[in-house]
Amino acid sequence: MRNKIVFYLNGNRKEVGPREASMMLAEYLRYDQGLTGTKIVCAEGDCGACSVLRLFPHLQGTDNQNYLPINSCITLVAQLDGSSIVTVDALKKDNELHETQKAMVACHGSQCGFCTPGFVMTITGLVEEKLAKKETSIDVQEAKNCMTGNLCRCTGYQPIVNATIRIDLNKCHSIKERFYSEKQEVDLTKVYSESVLLESDEFFYFAPKTMKEALNYLKDYPDTKIIASATDLGVVHNKRKTQLARLLSLHLISDLYKVQLNGNEVKIGARVTHTEFRHFMKDKLPEFANYLDIFASPQIKNIGTVIGNIANASPIGDTPPAFLALNATICVTGPQGEREIPITKFFLAYRKIALEHGDIITAVKFNLPSKNSTVRFYKNSNRKDLDISAVNFAIKVDWKDESKKEILDVAIAAGGIAATPLRLTKTETFLKQNFDIEGAVKELHSEFNPLSDVRASSAYRHVLMENFLRRFFAEAGGIQ
Ligand SMILES: Cc1cc2nc3c(=O)[nH]c(=O)nc-3n(C[C@H](O)[C@H](O)[C@H](O)COP(=O)(O)OP(=O)(O)OC[C@H]3O[C@@H](n4cnc5c(N)ncnc54)[C@H](O)[C@@H]3O)c2cc1C
Ligand code: FES
Ligand code: FES
Repeated sequence: MRNKIVFYLNGNRKEVGPREASMMLAEYLRYDQGLTGTKIVCAEGDCGACSVLRLFPHLQGTDNQNYLPINSCITLVAQLDGSSIVTVDALKKDNELHETQKAMVACHGSQCGFCTPGFVMTITGLVEEKLAKKETSIDVQEAKNCMTGNLCRCTGYQPIVNATIRIDLNKCHSIKERFYSEKQEVDLTKVYSESVLLESDEFFYFAPKTMKEALNYLKDYPDTKIIASATDLGVVHNKRKTQLARLLSLHLISDLYKVQLNGNEVKIGARVTHTEFRHFMKDKLPEFANYLDIFASPQIKNIGTVIGNIANASPIGDTPPAFLALNATICVTGPQGEREIPITKFFLAYRKIALEHGDIITAVKFNLPSKNSTVRFYKNSNRKDLDISAVNFAIKVDWKDESKKEILDVAIAAGGIAATPLRLTKTETFLKQNFDIEGAVKELHSEFNPLSDVRASSAYRHVLMENFLRRFFAEAGGIQ
């Protein structure tokens, strides 16, 4: 059993105990390591000023292993176990700036400079991806997409986009070649063979190698919180709404990293990130991949898990309506053994899910839609990128045949209209019996009564829902 978290920081091996492990990475870098290049602005994953690069060799779902940007303000040092981290402080080589930094200077991409290290690291993440793919240029859209998780309040984005497309990739040295080695990989793999237990007066952290050990720990310590990537938990912790004091991490259980396709069934393990899931879905159900393009930011998707999004049970979470429309199943292991919960029975009340004490979600699974099905996922938010949904809407229609004149089955789900993500069963039943959109719209309005809040009024949410339903049939063809 290890009693240390092990990771590499700018190429140097670190072994840390409970004091450092309980800190947020941004604070550890600045206040423990004196690496003040990384900035803290919002402390809730929104602005990207704290971005650092992380390579995590244990991920299975992407086609290359790379340094990816993450937000260090909401990442506990404990979560770095087995990772290799690079910060802005290490970018300069032999006293020469990295090409990203040179381009930012040349294009006047910085004024007060507070956001600049974050942009530099995010853009350098894109440069790493390009180098790995042996691509030689960055286009404007790629530049814009990569920085959706970074905010600048004074320079304006155009000079930063200009800097990004100007980077001469032929001159860039690879961060991976500089900071990651085979020796490091062997070491981190060895590190992963042992469970971790950290205990101090204020911080308890257990990362077992097996599910059995995890279940026993939950039984022995009922006040334990399961932590995945803390993109939700880290925010509530920083805002002092909850203390991350006793944690169970499943990051050493290798089965949970699996993304599988068995026949028609997709199964996503509990440690699979949104970035990996998107990558896996892009040729199997492109609609899901496109929907994830407007989910959070690259930094959040590179670490946040799909299962964390479901278990968090936010009424405006983006994946629950999609999984509801796909009739997904939640796979759970608990004190009584393994069981499966249809997602339609999973969200019980506001933030209350159908887990018993001691249960762990191991995966979510669903069948890919058939060729006679049409699936659409829509999201409305005040800003297109990195914003929480006012309303999200998912619909799957199984047509009798290609003519789309008859509906065999329909599933409609939405978020932001009730205390839980909701299936709209009355509208579904109506549509199965009547080919009448006007009637379906009336039925739809009758089966939810949303709140007005800062994101949208109740009336606006009604309009959005109606428009999503109409849009679906306009886009999908079929009944008019
Ligand atoms: C800036 C920002 C933007 C965001 N944008 C979006 C967005 O656009 N759309 C959206 O839907 N969400 C968004 N989120 C929310 C968040 O990123 C997702 O909900 C994410 O998927 C949570 O996963 P995680 O691994 O970080 O979970 P964590 O924060 O670690 O955990 C979340 C919850 O899940 C529980 N949990 C995790 N794993 C398990 C398990 N195996 N078994 C049982 N319980 C478990 C935890 O105990 C906790 O209650 C955003 C968050 C931030 C900070
Ligand atoms: S400080 Fe704003 S995202 Fe981390
Ligand atoms: S340069 Fe000042 S916030 Fe971006």
